[in-house]
Amino acid sequence: MSKEMKIIAAKEAITYVKDGMTLGLGTGSTVDEFLILLSKEIQNGLNICGVVTSEKTKNLSNKLSIPLTTLENVKKLDLTIDGADEIDADLSLIKGGGGALLREKIIAFNSSEVLIIADESKLVDKLGIFKLPIEVSPYEHEVTSFKIMDKLNEVGYNGSISLRKDDQNIFITDGGNYIYDLSIGLINEPDNLEQLLNLIPGVFENGLFINLTKKVIIGSENGVRVITK
Ligand code: 5RP
Repeated sequence: MSKEMKIIAAKEAITYVKDGMTLGLGTGSTVDEFLILLSKEIQNGLNICGVVTSEKTKNLSNKLSIPLTTLENVKKLDLTIDGADEIDADLSLIKGGGGALLREKIIAFNSSEVLIIADESKLVDKLGIFKLPIEVSPYEHEVTSFKIMDKLNEVGYNGSISLRKDDQNIFITDGGNYIYDLSIGLINEPDNLEQLLNLIPGVFENGLFINLTKKVIIGSENGVRVITK
């Protein structure tokens, strides 16, 4: 989808940022557009402090002179701005296409408000066309992947699971973990699936973000649309 639509969503998100806020800074190409706009506001005198969800966002933030801190320092974030891979009508999300899901969920969980910015291609009736990322420990990771499929089969899901690769190499997250991408078709009860997956030893987190956001900003050819829960 076009960069223009991402910029439209990012521009609207800037209007939610107030002086003195602590901000969670998500990961992805839409968030990158937000960071560029945010740095301009900072140059014009806006005072904010950000906590990043990835090394990629940290590098861009540093390049753009966006002041950063840690969650430990600020304890709570006023607002997090992040992207998504799929968004359903309940504002449940699939995230983790960029591999930052674990840190993104930690940051979202510790934010008073989470604002999702995306282009309209991310809106779906039901989650599950986008492969669901699962972050796992490298230790005996293949066994963990078998267990994931066993548990899913038990509750009626079928499909496949694949270890994420970066060219020929295993993709490694910022935390040193691996990601499996799960293809199981449309997801009927995302909240149950989120819990089920996280109960499997070796699974650190999965890309289902349920009840973590109440507001999504969509950039489209017709302009901006804010969807509220
Ligand atoms: C990274 C994510 C991203 O927010 C998601 O992949 C969307 O990225 P983009 O804005 O590039 O489409 O979850 O882990």
